[in-house]
Amino acid sequence: MRFDVLTVFPGMFSGPLTESILKRAQENGLIEVAVHDLREFTADRHRTTDDSPFGGGAGMVMLAEPIARALEAVRRARPHGRPRIIALTPAGRCFKQEVARELAREEWLILICGHYEGIDERALTLADEELSIGDYVLTGGELPAMVVIDAVARLQPGVLGGAASTAEESFDDGLLEYPHYTRPAVWRGLPVPEVLLSGNHAAIRRWRRKEALRRTWRRRPDLLAGRRLPPEDEQLLQEVLAEEGEAPEPSVPGDAPL
Ligand code: ADE
Repeated sequence: MRFDVLTVFPGMFSGPLTESILKRAQENGLIEVAVHDLREFTADRHRTTDDSPFGGGAGMVMLAEPIARALEAVRRARPHGRPRIIALTPAGRCFKQEVARELAREEWLILICGHYEGIDERALTLADEELSIGDYVLTGGELPAMVVIDAVARLQPGVLGGAASTAEESFDDGLLEYPHYTRPAVWRGLPVPEVLLSGNHAAIRRWRRKEALRRTWRRRPDLLAGRRLPPEDEQLLQEVLAEEGEAPEPSVPGDAPL
């Protein structure tokens, strides 16, 4: 899968793309990431990429022309490809695991990073859609683009390696993940739940599913609201409710249900 990123701060991408899993995925040819400096697509001596907003107001707005030229150049280099063009803006559709799965099926993404106050609206018409990574405002679309690349790249076959799987993790089936433990079996007086040491794989599977349901019920009841669970999950959830009382309580300070 290929990612082309259009940005005025290409240097911001070097860290995340040259470490760990994304680095290996590129080395193994599983993903290809090209970062393009929008300044290379400016028309003036000063290589201007932004200007003050029509109508007045604070901040600067990114010019449409460098974005259009960069898009044209990137598409010209792959005339037979069919890119999905995404602008990262706080006003976009909320980026969730489901969206990551949807994008992971594409063969080519072009990510436009906004900066300053925003992007000239006419340049946004060149994108297929806008995505936001959450209800907060960042200084630009670079970190959101990296988040999208990371979340989408790890869903590509082979990126997480043979043993690792995305099948059991948080949000894969709309639940939070069960708690994990590793050695030592007792740490500072805190033991690991006994079932995990039992070697009884069916019991372990059941415990994990139940704890995933418990955690979701406590921390993110919104994820369960209005959802029809399969009968085994329903049974486990009833057990959780009997143990917990009906009202979800935040189990992590500051992690109150939405
Ligand atoms: N640019 C600034 N804030 C953003 C956000 N939350 N998501 C996507 N792009 C952004």
